[in-house]
Amino acid sequence: MYQILLVSSISILLLSVFFSVITSRNLIRPLLSLEDGIKQISIGNWENLKINVRDPIEIQFLSKSFNSMQESLRKKTLEHEASNFELKKANTDLISTQRQLVHSEKMASIGQLAAGVAHEINNPTAFVSTNLHTMVEYLSVYKNLFQQMEELITCIENKDVEEKSLTVINKIESMKEEENFPFILDDAFQLLEESIDGANRIKKIVLDLRNFARPESHDARLANINTAIEDALRLTSNELKYKCEIVKELGNLPDIFCRIDQITQVFVNLFVNAAHAIKEHGNITIKSWIETDSIFISVCDTGTGIDKENLDKLFDPFFTTKDVGEGTGLGLAISYGIIEKHGGTIKAESTPGKGSCFHIILPQKGNSI
Ligand SMILES: Nc1ncnc2c1ncn2[C@@H]1O[C@H](COP(=O)(O)OP(=O)(O)OP(=O)(O)O)[C@@H](O)[C@H]1O
Ligand SMILES: [Mg+2]
Repeated sequence: MYQILLVSSISILLLSVFFSVITSRNLIRPLLSLEDGIKQISIGNWENLKINVRDPIEIQFLSKSFNSMQESLRKKTLEHEASNFELKKANTDLISTQRQLVHSEKMASIGQLAAGVAHEINNPTAFVSTNLHTMVEYLSVYKNLFQQMEELITCIENKDVEEKSLTVINKIESMKEEENFPFILDDAFQLLEESIDGANRIKKIVLDLRNFARPESHDARLANINTAIEDALRLTSNELKYKCEIVKELGNLPDIFCRIDQITQVFVNLFVNAAHAIKEHGNITIKSWIETDSIFISVCDTGTGIDKENLDKLFDPFFTTKDVGEGTGLGLAISYGIIEKHGGTIKAESTPGKGSCFHIILPQKGNSI
């Protein structure tokens, strides 16, 4: 009896172990395949992932929900990828439009400067041309003298009759009386030096203008902000020199990584604006200095100043108080964009009737522009 009991309880135990192993295998296998599905999703391999579980019924439901979740995830991801692509394209378009805008504004300011630049070129061209005409006259005098000297040399070589050499000598003497040879010689050198200087001035103006006009000509590089100030002053010199006293207090600045042609564009606009604001005669004071890893530049004028209600609108695109054809109102908006792209700030302050100041701060280690 005891033995029968022992055998039957062992059999029951074995049977229950057998069934529990079967049941747990049936339960664990689908759970493991679900876990694998989740892992695949987490590492991004989910595109054609489907889980097929038939039993038990609860896990089957779970796997169905998993599959529908995977399908909606796939759809959502595709939608996100499409909108991401659209966004990237819109961003590229925006960057190219902004570049075109910066370039158009630059072209517009060249238009504004054109009359002045033409004058700047005309001046040296006029005196170089006058000098060259005078040089032609001087050279013909020396050519005559040279001819007489050659004749004299021939007379001496041929041991010619004294009379002939005397005639030539007399001619030279009378030429010496008519023409002031030492003066001609000195003046010729002076005229040539002046003309070389004038030609170099023209060359520099054309070079400055060509550099400035080139669209996005330079990649960002190490450059000095004071150079941009000097370049802009040269480009605008004709707008400024008749009515503005330029006071420069440029500190010793380190080179910074920047798009120097765009920074020049900012200063061209600030100087032209200042010159426009000065009605008869005034000062433009330009200062630059470095302080705790930032470069500071201020451009102050003694012009008309800016009314309080306009101060907030200055950097808005198309805000202008100038007549049609005189200004588009884009100068400061573009300047703001340029400075912001360099990781800096530009602000204006003004006392109406007394003048205005524009303050720029640029980080020494700027953005990746
Ligand atoms: N230094 C200044 N003094 C007085 N007003 C100024 C000064 N700078 C700018 N402004 C005012 O701000 C306005 C906008 O300047 P902004 O440079 O953006 O455009 P604009 O000079 O009118 O035209 P643009 O620069 O496109 O040729 C000017 O029309 C002017 O009214
Ligand atoms: Mg302007």
